[in-house]
Amino acid sequence: MTATRTAIVTGAARGIGAAVAERLAKDGMKVAVIDLDEAACQEVVDRIKAAGGEALAVGCDVADEDAVNAAVERVAEQLGAPSVLVNNAGVLRDNLIFKMSAGDWDTVMNVHLRGSFLMTRAAQKFMTQEKFGRIVNLSSTSALGNRGQANYAAAKAGLQGFTKTVAIELGKFGVTANAIAPGFIATDMTAATAERVGMDFEEFKKAAATQIPVARTGTPDDIAAAASFFASEEAGFVSGQVLYVAGGPKD
Ligand code: NAI
Repeated sequence: MTATRTAIVTGAARGIGAAVAERLAKDGMKVAVIDLDEAACQEVVDRIKAAGGEALAVGCDVADEDAVNAAVERVAEQLGAPSVLVNNAGVLRDNLIFKMSAGDWDTVMNVHLRGSFLMTRAAQKFMTQEKFGRIVNLSSTSALGNRGQANYAAAKAGLQGFTKTVAIELGKFGVTANAIAPGFIATDMTAATAERVGMDFEEFKKAAATQIPVARTGTPDDIAAAASFFASEEAGFVSGQVLYVAGGPKD
């Protein structure tokens, strides 16, 4: 057993990020729970602490350069130098291309791409010093193309290129970078999509499950399990990979 590591998980107040934060805490890491609203992170922090772990709530917009740098410094001071980073914060601004506003394009690019870049740049400083790091980026099956998601698909495909490049640049410092590309995971994000298309969420999930080989939709814990592997010590020879966690194969 090595020294307790510190992990940062963004967008961790709920959904996949919350499940990843709780899983990494269970794995023995101290976890910085980062989201837009610090108060909203507290519930996850309390759950981690109630289970015997250590965690810190940090309010931060991942697209804001100064806020990101300050948040990562604060984590290093209060929890310890971060050696694991999970770039999970995300938003949807779905629309068909002819109706998509430039603002909706920029918002999605800023949170997913700029946010992952800023967090990675701030955290890698500590990882390269320690000669150990694990970076996990949340891509999506939408990276392969998805109607109504030109912005999101471009950002999620972009994250795959970003992941591979970070893996190439930082490998010699003991830092790996991998991407998880989830399929349909039941969270507030997919619930909002169901609402937008005027469907009951349970019906929406049932319909989605008919298209999934394992015949069910995914859960945040399905993604947390994959993140736990990529974040582990023993995954040090796995880098630059994109793992589709979608209940079946994807091209
Ligand atoms: P969610 O909407 O439930 O949670 C996203 C979290 O990110 C929220 O707590 C939100 O406040 C936070 N966030 C948004 N903008 C932020 C910013 N600028 N700075 C800091 N935090 C911010 O979403 P969910 O479903 O848990 O998704 C998590 C990640 O997984 C996202 O990157 C999403 O694109 C990705 N994903 C989700 C899938 C799904 O089916 N739910 C499928 C594929 C990928």
